[in-house]
Amino acid sequence: LTQERYPVKRLPFSTPSEADLAAFERIIPGRVVTDTEVLAASNVDWLRTVRGCSRVLLRPRTSEEVAHILRYCHERNLAVNPQGGNTGMVGGSVPVFDEIILSTALMNQVISFHSVSGTLVCQAGCILEELSQYVEARGFVMPLDLGAKGSCHIGGNVATNAGGLRFLRYGSLHGTVLGLEVVLADGTVLNCLSALRKDNTGYDLKQLFIGSEGTLGVITAVSIQCPPKPRAVNVAFLGCPGFAEVLQTFSTCKGLLGEILSAYEFMDAECMWLVRHHLHLTSPVQESPFYVLIETSGSRAEHDAEKLNDFLEQALRSGLVTDGTVATDQMKLKALWALRERISEALSWDGYVYKYDLSLPTDTLYDLVTDLRARLGSQAKHVVGYGHLGDGNLHLNVTSEAFSRSLLDALEPYVYEWTAGHRGSVSAEHGLGFKKKDALHYSKPPAALRLMQQLKALLDPKGILNPYKTLPAQA
Ligand code: FAD
Ligand code: MLT
Ligand code: ZN
Repeated sequence: LTQERYPVKRLPFSTPSEADLAAFERIIPGRVVTDTEVLAASNVDWLRTVRGCSRVLLRPRTSEEVAHILRYCHERNLAVNPQGGNTGMVGGSVPVFDEIILSTALMNQVISFHSVSGTLVCQAGCILEELSQYVEARGFVMPLDLGAKGSCHIGGNVATNAGGLRFLRYGSLHGTVLGLEVVLADGTVLNCLSALRKDNTGYDLKQLFIGSEGTLGVITAVSIQCPPKPRAVNVAFLGCPGFAEVLQTFSTCKGLLGEILSAYEFMDAECMWLVRHHLHLTSPVQESPFYVLIETSGSRAEHDAEKLNDFLEQALRSGLVTDGTVATDQMKLKALWALRERISEALSWDGYVYKYDLSLPTDTLYDLVTDLRARLGSQAKHVVGYGHLGDGNLHLNVTSEAFSRSLLDALEPYVYEWTAGHRGSVSAEHGLGFKKKDALHYSKPPAALRLMQQLKALLDPKGILNPYKTLPAQA
């Protein structure tokens, strides 16, 4: 599958032998997995578009065990694929050939939580949703949230520098991650697990690993700043007559909701069709060309409700919005969020998905979707646009019954050139992984690419960590 769609040659790493398995068994007794069913699931990505053929998966519990495993693999020249919840969107989380899968699934312990500062220190394999529940019980929230929360690991989130649904409010993991513990390719443990808000002692090394997609080191523990849990949360789900109104609603909303605005998401009518058709969700508002989901988070319910009502009145009066509904109770809030969060799931039921995750200037962001619909015509089943509009992030997705080479050729490099032409980014939040690594040059100059290659060579001279990912193959 992988070979046909993505031609790539195996690099001269060693092939895991019986003696290697025995050595791993000594390091992590009973946690060396060779069961074909478990491996089948770990060899294929969430989108089911890339598949490797690894024959061994390791489940360490501690950083020391990870260090021991990597020291051994480095010595033996064995390639390693770090894996968290395997929800990545760019084929970075699964092997390309027979790389050893190093799973963080059993590294799921909270190490400490400080109830005044809100600093959480935990192992990399903690599931995001479980961490959310843990900190919410203590009056805080995780600074990030995404549709994959039920399976993704915090280590995977940091490794991909995941953006998600709270980015507008709490910003990037580059700001909220306070420290990391990372095991380097040769087994060296780099303990930068600081819990300090301010620390300007030398280069900020942790930043290198945030978004490095398992190519520079294995993240084993994370220290992260959690904000206080907002006392009042409101969600408004609105219908807009056009994309110009989606943009104007955003401006109005920033002006009128100000500091309580915590999410501004959008989806088009085709997305709504997909979630209704494939997931049987019902739309709470009249059919519209576009929908926006606005969330407010504040500390006083009456104050927030008053602000939200003022905003809604103005938006309806001026025709920016044609219909809408508001939720404050948990059940309805979740149901409204599901319409937006579950689009990727609905798409995966629709057929083969060509997924693009772009940063673009907001005023031209949707032009690409319209443009592609005309360009692709009946070649595509659906061409949809949704995303984190408040962050200038468009998720452009195209579906077809099955993988089609000619459709892919119509999409690439067209989408990347269009994006580069608008000075956008070819990966806003999903990373490059295996599928997008050759598109890096559309968004970064040659000098930046060279420096990235040099950093990779410095930190992983044998190239054993997540080979074939993130950086284009060297000429
Ligand atoms: P995996 O998929 O297992 O791995 C992802 C990458 O990180 C791989 O390259 C892997 O090698 C590396 N990696 C994993 N763990 C480690 C580690 N401990 N050390 C070093 N490298 C590691 N992303 C967004 O940014 N925003 C969203 O809103 C969003 N929504 C999503 C919704 C759904 C339904 C799904 C399926 C995915 C979504 N994603 C989103 C994609 C996103 O990248 C992941 O969900 C998440 O951050 C990956 O975490 P994971 O534990 O599943 O990592
Ligand atoms: C989202 O925002 O829903 C995610 O990034 C997943 C996707 O793009 O499909
Ligand atoms: Zn997203």
